[in-house]
Amino acid sequence: MLVLGIETSCDETGVALYSQEHGLEAHVLYSQAALHAEYGGVVPELASRDHVRKLIPLLRSVLTAAGRRREDLDGVAYTAGPGLIGALLAGACAARGLAWSLGIPVLGIHHMEAHLLAPMLEETPPAPPFVALLVSGGHTMLVRVCAVGDYDVLGETRDDAVGEAFDKTAKLLGLGYPGGPALAGIAAQGNPGCYRFPRPMTDRPGLDFSFSGLKTHALTTFRNSPPGREGRADIARAFEEAIVDTLVIKCRRALDTTCLTDLVVAGGVSANRRLREALSRMTAGRGERVYYPRPEFCTDNGAMVALTGALRLQSGERDGVASRVRPRWPLSELSRLDN
Ligand code: KG4
Ligand code: ZN
Repeated sequence: MLVLGIETSCDETGVALYSQEHGLEAHVLYSQAALHAEYGGVVPELASRDHVRKLIPLLRSVLTAAGRRREDLDGVAYTAGPGLIGALLAGACAARGLAWSLGIPVLGIHHMEAHLLAPMLEETPPAPPFVALLVSGGHTMLVRVCAVGDYDVLGETRDDAVGEAFDKTAKLLGLGYPGGPALAGIAAQGNPGCYRFPRPMTDRPGLDFSFSGLKTHALTTFRNSPPGREGRADIARAFEEAIVDTLVIKCRRALDTTCLTDLVVAGGVSANRRLREALSRMTAGRGERVYYPRPEFCTDNGAMVALTGALRLQSGERDGVASRVRPRWPLSELSRLDN
């Protein structure tokens, strides 16, 4: 079964082809980062319009890259939520129109499930049950994954998502948009131990997170620190270390409380090098395993949507007649796949 995957939930247009027989056949990605950079964040209306502009050319180039024709497709999957409503609708309309014209099934995919399954595109894929840490621009959660589609949310953020905290802190340090990679870049030049930021909610039981205080802490430190690049690098370093420590502590707790030994880390922030190193260290000593997507599939992409679509379409799931995108969509509402 050859499935086309379309991702347009935010500011990346991703299109990919996945087949059961050959795995990932091709994927293309267009980032709108430059378009939004001058506004310091994503402008939803500009995002929707740019998705509309880019989708058809990207669709053509992914088919060419795989040496396939539209008529080879057996199904189409698109991100139906969570995300920006206009951006989601752009992908949904393209996907549903294409599927209708070809007479093939179409299915709306949950964006966070697609992130969660992205490590299954790698050579050594994880197999449930495992604990998943999902860290993106809009979400931060720990999930017990019993099977594909059987998700038990163990903890989530009460305010900012980790990626959002990176983006907001980068902005106040004058690092521009998108902030995560920029902040991580300058943190590498900072002196460790120059400042110590709190590790929020680690001193009490439970698996919830809170990151909005860290951003305020960074702002206060910034106002009181000597100006210049060096001072900013030290703050970035302290901020990143606090985030990484907090996530490591909560992952440890989640593995211990569930008695599971496999950890999957996905979403944009899972590209963070310091986080990957710390989680690999934390699990290695105990014979546990940690799985990540390759860096390009940590952030939004079409490949993860095509893979998730292939799994669900294969098991017979299809969209109904009415198109439904869901800007908000709890992960726990998904149905379990038993095959
Ligand atoms: O998964 P994603 O592409 O989009 C959402 O679903 O939200 O995640 C984007 C987020 C942004 O907040 C971005 O700053 C963050 O992931 N990010 C990073 C890194 N690369 C991307 N944060 C920290 N370090 C990175 N290397
Ligand atoms: Zn995402």
